[in-house]
Amino acid sequence: MAEITFTPSGFGQGMSDGTMPTGFEAKREASDTLDTIWMDGEFIPWEDATIHVLSHALHYGTSVFEGVRCYETADGPALFRWDAHLDRLYNSAAMYDLDIGFDREELTTATLELLARQDLGGCYVRPIAFYGYDRLGVSPTTPTKLPERVAIAAWPWESYLGESALEDGIDAGVSSWRKYGHDQIPPTAKTTGAYVNGVLATDEAARNGYDEAIVLNSEGNVAEGPGENLFLVDDGEIYTPGLAEDALDGITRQSVIELAREAGYTVHDDARIGRGELYTADELFFTGTAAEVTPIRSVDDRAIGAGSKGPVTDDLQTRFFDLVSGPVDTHEAWFTRVH
Ligand SMILES: Cc1ncc(COP(=O)(O)O)c(C=O)c1O
Repeated sequence: MAEITFTPSGFGQGMSDGTMPTGFEAKREASDTLDTIWMDGEFIPWEDATIHVLSHALHYGTSVFEGVRCYETADGPALFRWDAHLDRLYNSAAMYDLDIGFDREELTTATLELLARQDLGGCYVRPIAFYGYDRLGVSPTTPTKLPERVAIAAWPWESYLGESALEDGIDAGVSSWRKYGHDQIPPTAKTTGAYVNGVLATDEAARNGYDEAIVLNSEGNVAEGPGENLFLVDDGEIYTPGLAEDALDGITRQSVIELAREAGYTVHDDARIGRGELYTADELFFTGTAAEVTPIRSVDDRAIGAGSKGPVTDDLQTRFFDLVSGPVDTHEAWFTRVH
C-alpha cells in the first residue's frame, strides 16, 4: 500500500485536536473490512470505483449527492433520516434532469448490504449520482443524454469539526464570499459544482484562523455555513434563516426544529438574520449531518454569549445525541435499521 499521510483534520479546517486520521487510505489501513463500493448496481472493490478523467461531472460539476449518518443506537445500527435524504437526492437530480436509474428500494437495499458486507455500524454514507463519460460540452442532455452513473460509499467518520468542537464550540468568521441565490444555482439542491462556493469560504476562514465560515446571502443576511445550517438563540427563542435566505433545507435542521418544538421552545424557521445580530446573540450553533449540533463560541473574534456552549444549545445537543444513541422508540420513522 502507498505511503500514508496522516492529516489531523481533512475537513473541519483549522481544527487539529488529534482525532482519527481522515484520509481514506489511513482509514482502510485501520480497518479490515473497508473494501467495497456500490456502483451502477454492483458491489465492486474499493480501488476499482474509478471514473474516466473526461467525465462530465468532473468538468462541469454535474453530480448530486447526500451525506447520511448511520448511528449506533441502543437497538443497533440505524440510518438516520434515510427517507428524507433520498427525497432530497431525487429532487437534486431532477433539477439537472439526471435520472438516477435505481428506485428508492434499490438504493436502500444496496446501502444496507454495503454496510453489512463491510461490517459497518456507526458510519457516514455518501450516495452520489452524476453525468459520466461520452463527450464534453456544457449540456449533459443535448443532443443526447450522457450516461447517468450512481455510486454509494460508506466509511467511519468522526465529528466534522472535531470532538472538542461539540463540547467547547468553534470559532467562526463571516466570509467575504456570498452564497449564490435561487436565481443562480438552486441552493436547495446538493450539487457538487456549487460547493466551490463553500470551498472558497471554508479555506478563507481557515486562512484567517477560524474553524468555520458563516456565509451571507447577496442581501447581506445570514444564509448558512459551507456545510451546516445556522441557529441563533435570543431571549430563549430560537431562530434559523428561512429557505428563501438561500440556505439548504438541512435534514438535521428539520430534525432539530422538531425536537426543539417538542421540548416547548418557540422556533422561528423563516428568520432573516443580519450580520450584527450574530454578534449580539445569546447563543449560536450549527447543525448538519456531518457537524451534528456544534456550538459556535465566537464570530469574527467576538465572544457569543459567555463564549462557550450555551444552555439552549446544550439542551438541544443532548436531545439530539440521546435520540440517535438511545432506543429507537420515539421518532421511529426517522430510523432505518441496518441489521
Ligand atoms: C451547504 C449545506 N448546508 C447545510 C447542510 C446541512 O444539511 P443536513 O443537515 O441535511 O446534512 C449541509 C450538509 O449537507 C450543506 O452542505
